[in-house]
Amino acid sequence: MQAHSLSQYANDLLGAEDPLLHQFRDEAAAAGLPSIQVPPELGRLLAALVTATGATRVLEIGTLFGYSAILMARALPADGRLITLEVNPTHARLAERNIERAGLADRVTVRQGNALDSLAALDGQDFDLVFIDADKPTYPEYLEWATKLTHPRSVIVADNVWREGIVIDPGDDEAGNALARFNRDLAANPTLLTTFFPTRDGNDAAAISVVRGG
Ligand SMILES: C[S@@+](CC[C@H](N)C(=O)[O-])C[C@H]1O[C@@H](n2cnc3c(N)ncnc32)[C@H](O)[C@@H]1O
Repeated sequence: MQAHSLSQYANDLLGAEDPLLHQFRDEAAAAGLPSIQVPPELGRLLAALVTATGATRVLEIGTLFGYSAILMARALPADGRLITLEVNPTHARLAERNIERAGLADRVTVRQGNALDSLAALDGQDFDLVFIDADKPTYPEYLEWATKLTHPRSVIVADNVWREGIVIDPGDDEAGNALARFNRDLAANPTLLTTFFPTRDGNDAAAISVVRGG
């Protein structure tokens, strides 16, 4: 079939996912989980950032069934560690099982509970890359934690910061307003160098911020 979008072209050319991740996605859908994992282009970007930065400490907020955690953990060196935070016990259990089956249990920890509580428990720790991908109304608070838990040259990535343009005029949409504030907070933070990476053929975007200095 001829590609008719950049996403499809890239996935045809570069491969959307391997058979194991495909299987995990199918199983999660069959178990009734929403299909809201990162799109392939963002998965590739996350793995590329882990590789390029030489990250050894990665924090993810929002696990689902472990799809993006597995993609990032595969890019870690043998001594690298990834902590992923998930409030839903069913999601957390499935993610743990998938991480085990992917052979990554030695480097990935799933912390079940409300992310804000888990983040408070991580106070004082330091991460090379933080990926924000949980409940949208809490994004501004997740950004405060992400800046606290990182150091110069760390990377902070957040998915869904465009959402078909809702951030331009969110009206009374709670998630849209929080995302718009999150983007303004990124822009106003002089310690962050931020850009937006279009995903889903421009229907959405991820924010990529590098902590300046170092
Ligand atoms: C978009 S999904 C994460 C997708 C995952 N990063 C991936 O790409 O494979 C968002 C996840 O965040 C979880 N979540 C929502 N609110 C949360 C909270 N307050 N604390 C922790 N996790 C939360 C949801 O249960 C869901 O599994």
